[in-house]
Amino acid sequence: MRRLTVALERPYEVLVGPGALHRLGGLIAPYRRAAIVSQGPIVTALGTELLEADVIGPEPWIVTMGDGEGAKTLASVEALGGALARGGLLRDDVVVALGGGVVGDTAGLVAALYHRGVDVVQVPTSLLAQVDAAIGGKTAVNLPEGKNLIGAFHQPIGVVADTRVLASLPAAEFRSGLGEVAKYALMPDGGAVVDLLRIRTDAVLARDPAALAELVAACVAIKARVVAADPRERSGSRAILNYGHTLAHALETTAGYTLAHGEAVAIGLIFAANLARALERVGPDIVDRVHGVVASLELPVQVPADVDRVELLEAMRRDKKSKGGLTFVLPGANGLELVDDPPARALDVAFAAVGA
Ligand SMILES: NC(=O)c1ccc[n+]([C@@H]2O[C@H](COP(=O)([O-])OP(=O)(O)OC[C@H]3O[C@@H](n4cnc5c(N)ncnc54)[C@H](O)[C@@H]3O)[C@@H](O)[C@H]2O)c1
Repeated sequence: MRRLTVALERPYEVLVGPGALHRLGGLIAPYRRAAIVSQGPIVTALGTELLEADVIGPEPWIVTMGDGEGAKTLASVEALGGALARGGLLRDDVVVALGGGVVGDTAGLVAALYHRGVDVVQVPTSLLAQVDAAIGGKTAVNLPEGKNLIGAFHQPIGVVADTRVLASLPAAEFRSGLGEVAKYALMPDGGAVVDLLRIRTDAVLARDPAALAELVAACVAIKARVVAADPRERSGSRAILNYGHTLAHALETTAGYTLAHGEAVAIGLIFAANLARALERVGPDIVDRVHGVVASLELPVQVPADVDRVELLEAMRRDKKSKGGLTFVLPGANGLELVDDPPARALDVAFAAVGA
């Protein structure tokens, strides 16, 4: 079991490892009642493990929500809040968010709002949520006008990342998480992730829980440092978590969501490295390194054949983080930095490198 600390004003621990679920009982024991928010298929997939870990007893209190981005809505917040109220959840009780990023973001927001804030434990069950979404206290739901527009910062009191539960994760979702793993590997302090991937790629791809525990812990250590340096996303330093994401978001939109998020991030990382090279911010060694990491995780390095460069550019300009122009997180001599409006010539090189 690995214990990592997110060093905030009210610090909390991230427990990572095969069987970490067994520690959840201890975390919620001081509370009178715990309401588990999850999704039906997750409860079905993990039922036995939840029973064995004593997370649920014969009469568990599980409140379920819908699946997918379409369920991250204010309607879900209202429905969950109503269920918690009818079940008698009080101010000093606790919510357990058991699921991927959709459950974590929605249940986290419910916990931030219910009785003006109740404690929440994040129990991420997808690889993406274990390495990223469950840490840092960002919660949100979508509006028809855009993603994550209504949200709050609400740090959990603890995070329990059991790598055994990743066995039942659908293959596309596992690949999605690997895209974020590649991002961490390629961050300036990602050396530990790269080293692990070098020696344990096969075990990681085979979802060996011990290998995944090492990998998740190495990624969480990076995210925890980034979050502790800028807990409320004020200084801009948290923006480096969007490495690879400018192209990725545009690709997801233009490819009609046929690509998993992490696959789009992988291509976005290749694009960013080639853009940085074209701007003479990095040498060819960095481009090779990015290619090596992405390919080792069996993630794509080229955009799908029908994706159009003009459409990608338009989608990138519409990105919610853009200020009207194009903004990229790019490697350089000072680590990862925001770069605005690179010249068309450099963009051409980067587009060509990913086959757009
Ligand atoms: N708050 C943050 O800091 C942050 C960071 C990154 C992403 N996010 C958000 O996370 C969301 C994406 O999260 P995600 O990729 O986990 O998607 P998700 O929550 O939709 O989970 C993917 C699918 O896998 C299923 N699933 C999850 N765990 C399972 C398991 N162990 N066994 C079987 N099925 C399982 C889910 O039911 C779902 O169908 C997005 O909404 C994104 O905005 C938030």
